[in-house]
Amino acid sequence: MEIHIVDDADAGAKVVADLFERTVRGAGESGAVLGLATGSSPVPAYAELIRRHREEGLSFAASRAFLLDEYVGLPVGHEQSYHRFIRDNFTAQVDIDDSAVVSPDGAADDPAAEAAAYDLRLRDAGGVDLQILGIGSNGHIAFNEPGSSLVSRTRVVGLTRSTIEDNSRYFDAPSDVPVRAISQGLGTILEARRIVLTATGEGKAEAVAQLAEGAVSARWPATVLQAHPDVTVVVDEAAASKLELADYYRYSRALERENPLTPQG
Ligand code: F6R
Repeated sequence: MEIHIVDDADAGAKVVADLFERTVRGAGESGAVLGLATGSSPVPAYAELIRRHREEGLSFAASRAFLLDEYVGLPVGHEQSYHRFIRDNFTAQVDIDDSAVVSPDGAADDPAAEAAAYDLRLRDAGGVDLQILGIGSNGHIAFNEPGSSLVSRTRVVGLTRSTIEDNSRYFDAPSDVPVRAISQGLGTILEARRIVLTATGEGKAEAVAQLAEGAVSARWPATVLQAHPDVTVVVDEAAASKLELADYYRYSRALERENPLTPQG
């Protein structure tokens, strides 16, 4: 796990956007498969990618995108649907085709069957090249709440009271927040070839400390990322404030910057 402690959300956005840019350019015409998250954490990175698209010609035309999750009961165009969120905050502002942005259908008649089919769609697409994640204050990633199986697949999940409260800021009233979602599972997320998780603010500090330094356990679902070989964590000082090994992470990043490893000829 590579941990970047940055000054603020804008600095973090650049680190995340660099990973996206490298993935998209590296895939060339065959196109990258991008895994997208909603919520507030990735929004600065999406804004930076929109800027690079407009000002530097970064093109997403060959890319496809898969969302992590969607509320059960909300159709694709619904104002609070995650599909709408990602369109408004990212995909409609770059040159990715709308039909190439895929989310679980929250309005499906059979949400469990839709979840299983979504998992297969991800596999059929060849898997995710780069997955961006936020983290809940309770350690959830996507909607894998504490207690989720570490090998879970895309499925219907019930949201905890704390998640409903956290997300009620997007709704008129907490009672309007759907109580279930279709969410990629922890096992599904681990199949992404590369993962970047971003978090800011003191409210995420405990979850970030558990993610990086806690024991792997269903109590803190994000700890499962310790078992993935290519995870980058980008956090501001407040979200990093409970990391015991923060000095080592800072030292490691400085070492890479100032003394990069070059192949010996
Ligand atoms: C969003 C998602 C969630 C959020 C998490 C953090 O698609 O799956 O896990 O990433 O709840 O949300 P924010 O970024 O709003 O703090």
